[in-house]
Amino acid sequence: MYIFIDTADTDELKSAFDTGLVDGCTTNPSLIAKSGRDFKEVIAEICEMTPGPVSAEVASIEHETMLAEALALAEIADNVVIKVPLTWDGLKTCAALSAEEIQTNVTLCFSVAQAWLAAKSGATFISPFIGRLDDTGVDGMELIHDIRALYDVHGYETEILAASIRTQEHVEQAALAGADVATIPPKIFNELLSHPLTEKGLDAFMADWTKTGQSIL
Ligand code: G3P
Repeated sequence: MYIFIDTADTDELKSAFDTGLVDGCTTNPSLIAKSGRDFKEVIAEICEMTPGPVSAEVASIEHETMLAEALALAEIADNVVIKVPLTWDGLKTCAALSAEEIQTNVTLCFSVAQAWLAAKSGATFISPFIGRLDDTGVDGMELIHDIRALYDVHGYETEILAASIRTQEHVEQAALAGADVATIPPKIFNELLSHPLTEKGLDAFMADWTKTGQSIL
């Protein structure tokens, strides 16, 4: 499963990319607003930080303007992926971009039907929002399983990009459910490696090694 980081904060992205384990980035209008930066500038900077996919979302809701915005964003860098919402206009734009071989990420997905229509529109990625479904009392992870089953039985190549990740368990379960990608908030990513028994075990190894009085070099 590929790891994307869900942020427009370039400082957080730099430390995540420095691990060598991060494959791309997703942004959305809320994350761009939070960054306080010029949209195109921050996307260009992020595209310089990674050769992997960088999602940049259109800001219009009607097809013609969406398409114009998408083409302007695609000019920024070859690894820009255009994010469009799961609406009829969004899917029309997705299909038009797919025909131009511009990568797309169809976002705000909350049902199997939506994921099916996005795949039929040629979406490169589909973003089912796990956390926001959980917030409504619906099991968001079940949607990942269902989309995986649908795509596999019909041979759709759209990649499942598990989004709205709120916990380490979401990351683990998404990987087990067969998601192709998880886009992870920086805080969750930074905590993925931690386990108290690892820290405790390493402390004990170091203490015992020190007692030997030896050195390897
Ligand atoms: O960026 C798309 C998705 O990851 C947003 O997540 O936490 O705002 O539901 P969240």
